Amino acid sequence: MYRDRLRMPALWGKVTTPEQAALLFRDGMVVGMSGFTRAGDAKEVPVALAERAGIDPLKITLLTGASLGNDIDRILSDAGVIARRMPFQVDTALRRHINQGEVMFIDQHLSETVEMLRSRQLGPIDLAVVEATAITEEGHIVPTTSVGNSASFAILAEKIIVEINLNHPLALEGLHDIYIPTYRPHRDPIPVMAANSRIGLPAIPIDPGKIAAIVVTEKYDSTARIEAPDAETSAIAGHLSDLFLHEVRKGRMGLGLQPIQSGIGAIANAVLTGFVESRFHGLSMYSEVLQDSCFELFEAGKLNFASGCSITVSGEWYERAILGIEKYKPRLIMRPQEISNHPEVIRRLGVLAINTALECDIYGNVNSTHVNGTHMMNGIGGSGDFARNAHMAIFVTKSLAKGGNISSIVPMVPHVDHNEHDVDIVVTECGLADLRGLAPRERAESIIRNCAHPSFRDALLDYYRSALKRGGQTPHLLEEAFAWHLRAQRTGSMRPEKLAAA
Ligand code: COA
Repeated sequence: MYRDRLRMPALWGKVTTPEQAALLFRDGMVVGMSGFTRAGDAKEVPVALAERAGIDPLKITLLTGASLGNDIDRILSDAGVIARRMPFQVDTALRRHINQGEVMFIDQHLSETVEMLRSRQLGPIDLAVVEATAITEEGHIVPTTSVGNSASFAILAEKIIVEINLNHPLALEGLHDIYIPTYRPHRDPIPVMAANSRIGLPAIPIDPGKIAAIVVTEKYDSTARIEAPDAETSAIAGHLSDLFLHEVRKGRMGLGLQPIQSGIGAIANAVLTGFVESRFHGLSMYSEVLQDSCFELFEAGKLNFASGCSITVSGEWYERAILGIEKYKPRLIMRPQEISNHPEVIRRLGVLAINTALECDIYGNVNSTHVNGTHMMNGIGGSGDFARNAHMAIFVTKSLAKGGNISSIVPMVPHVDHNEHDVDIVVTECGLADLRGLAPRERAESIIRNCAHPSFRDALLDYYRSALKRGGQTPHLLEEAFAWHLRAQRTGSMRPEKLAAA
């Protein structure tokens, strides 16, 4: 039944059960698993591994592309299997284990993981577990709905377990573009000259002799939680649209703009959906995750081409986008995440990078990861890869969080993911602060006046004016800079206590 997907007869004898494959793991191993933002993860072997750990406890270092679906991060972390985890996650249970100090989480720029493995600063990888659409006649692996780090994991690992997923359409074959950079310091330039440049192979070239087990599955990818655009995300999209039209009027871009990257999460997706109604056309994406908005823009005739390293869509779009991939295939490429997120390519193409902040301070430093400065949310993901190297580094956020108790514009962020030197534009539903060419004092004026919610604006202005009296390039009242966060820790609200209680 699956021999159209397992085309190298010499490998037929490797087909086994997930339980047998799970016996290949040893305590202390470094394991690289496929999976990026809940797309293309191995679905059977990790569950069998967790079950095995119930009787025969073992711990591994788990590397992936990004977050895993099918509750795999929860199942593995609840089973006590994960000692160390990198480079990204979004799972509530794993987040709890991380914040309790039970799992050592290395929150890393997503383009860097395999670069460090290749140069032996990390690793070595003992075992790779990779989901596949098929294994070719040469024994090469055709990935599924994500490439992520799978190619380098499989190439660098000592042994490989492949999960062939019969539910992914065979039409996925041909979508991937596997390119592995040459070794440093004499590396060739990466020849991506446009979002649609094909520079690699359609499958992961490995020595098939390393395949130790093949498991067959029919489980689907988890779908994404996508929120419909609301008044705030529509307003953010409107402000961004005005900014890009301003660039067009200035003659700095055409209506096709420059390749767009849009970050993960409900807000970034809703903002991009807002572009369906815009004047722009002939758009391209050079992004990481392709979400519903990408397919909505295709359908609206706005988007010409999209390059990413995974496709993560909602249940509503799964059938059309994944099972119906044939329709979109000529206008899509899926690359390894070190190429989709590569600084060299992002800088060359002049990417417009749109990512979401948890909070931003009055000078434009952005916290995307640590709630109240201490507790991990998801991780930096690819936002740093893009922001630092983009033509325009844009951060969006609603001006209020947690039912209006938290201001997303604060005096000083208690954790910095993107510093003021990398952040060009901050947008909330209230307005847009264009920080290009502004000094810190000018940035503060612009962010407070344009982006802060009116109910927090005066308090921010008071803070800033008092700080100005102390002088400095970047004036602050160090004794008060985190007072809002301390109040939120105590009461759940940044608003003054008597107001919060009222
Ligand atoms: N303080 C505390 N919590 C906050 C907050 C703040 N200032 N702002 C938002 N939150 C909480 C929300 O309440 C929500 O919590 P819940 O899940 O308990 O309801 C959660 O953060 C997510 O916020 P939401 O408003 O739904 O936005 P989102 O889904 O777009 O996610 C990020 C926002 C920042 C968490 C998400 O974009 C992220 O992880 N970014 C970092 C990685 C990244 O940018 N990758 C992109 C590279 S391609």
